[in-house]
Amino acid sequence: MRSIMEGYPVPMPDKVLYEARDGVAWITLNRPDVHNAIDLEMRDALWALLDAAEADDDVGVVVFRGAGDAAFSAGADISEFGTAPSYTGARRSRQERDLWGRVLHFAKPTIAAIHGYALGAGCELSLLCDFRIAAEDARIGLPEAKLGYIPTAGGTQTLQRTIGPGRALDMLLTAEPVSAQTALDYGLVHRVVPATQLDAEAEALARRLLSQPAAALQAARRALVEGADLPLATAIRLESHLRQRF
Ligand code: COA
Repeated sequence: MRSIMEGYPVPMPDKVLYEARDGVAWITLNRPDVHNAIDLEMRDALWALLDAAEADDDVGVVVFRGAGDAAFSAGADISEFGTAPSYTGARRSRQERDLWGRVLHFAKPTIAAIHGYALGAGCELSLLCDFRIAAEDARIGLPEAKLGYIPTAGGTQTLQRTIGPGRALDMLLTAEPVSAQTALDYGLVHRVVPATQLDAEAEALARRLLSQPAAALQAARRALVEGADLPLATAIRLESHLRQRF
């Protein structure tokens, strides 16, 4: 782990890897034996790593990806449901540290490089990113209804804002994942590439983003994310306000 994390209150488990090179921070969900299911420890690690990536002036873009051949992430770690390591730990992780809000409002562009399963929180994490690049083998979905839950990492809202309420309801209520090609047709992912090209495609996109003025990208992202919740006239004033900062 980079020295940038020294002194951080949260221990960095190997379950999430962090590598920053040439302006790009690669955050790898690293529990391939359980399809990179995200447990509470990983949520804390992701929170701290996003803090670190945001504070690091040498990092301009963050890419999320999953280790192993099978999955980006099969979602929240089901084995922790109802049995979180401790009530206090679970509360701190889930409520005081709003990881998903942290991703949404992250100050730099984010890319999800998705292969294999992207289910539940895996799918939702990708929906909070600015770009989703899918490998041809991607299977993307929100299976919570099957388990008697609903998504809780923003999925009910981010999915319908991304693909529209009709398709979002279809995916949520049937709880069936869609293929990479269907995801592309829905506008759920930006592009589909052979699995062997996934990292290279993410890298190329990151390089393209790094070649633009960072302040302009940040302002454009703020205008979209914050403007989406505002009436049109107010959102256009926000755009004007952000423009004046250049
Ligand atoms: N949480 C915890 N463990 C998970 C997991 C999750 N979300 N998803 C997969 N795993 C584990 C499995 O328990 C299994 O562990 P084991 O080898 O110790 O038994 C391992 O990952 C491999 O999964 P397996 O089900 O054997 O693989 P598969 O290729 O047959 O099926 C999935 C893959 C993704 C279809 C299936 O694992 C699945 O449905 N997972 C749950 C997805 C889900 O509901 N996510 C939303 C949670 S709200």
